Amino acid sequence: MMVPRFFVEFVIIFSIFWWPTHGRILTNCEAAKELQKAGIPKTFISNWVCLMRSESGMNTSLMKGPGTSSSFTYGIFQISSLNNKYCIRGRKGGVCNKKCEDFLNDDISDDIICASKIEKAEGFKYWKGWLNKCKSKPLPDVANCKRRRRRDTINSDIIL
Ligand SMILES: *[C@@H]1O[C@H](CO)[C@@H](O)[C@H](O)[C@H]1NC(C)=O
Repeated sequence: MMVPRFFVEFVIIFSIFWWPTHGRILTNCEAAKELQKAGIPKTFISNWVCLMRSESGMNTSLMKGPGTSSSFTYGIFQISSLNNKYCIRGRKGGVCNKKCEDFLNDDISDDIICASKIEKAEGFKYWKGWLNKCKSKPLPDVANCKRRRRRDTINSDIIL
């Protein structure tokens, strides 16, 4: 059976626009690569990867709320809008000078910059997920992500 061409085009175009807003689930190695690209020191990368997995399940578009004082939490690091401290809902602002919603797309480079600022100011203890699942616990092994990428991706996912 012939599928009408316009239908095929529609599906392709629809997918392109639908996919980014739906977010992505990163593997540990993909997250580690992004962190490394952003200049996060090697010794802390497994802590960050653990934190991201425990906070958002690596879902780049996760938004949760409302929580304390009608705050929401955004993106792979679950950065909070509480007191407009790090970002503001609907307009740029806070320490990171960001609109919170900007943390929901699948480009996580801006999320990493803001999360680093939070970590510098408050430490990893800002994140409940880190306190509960990462602090003094075995961390994911992302040291071998570059070599034999596929197998190591699977291995590090099993570890968590
Ligand atoms: C990621 O989070 C968004 C927002 O909560 C949700 O709609 C989406 O289904 C999640 N993606 C996956 C693959 O779980």
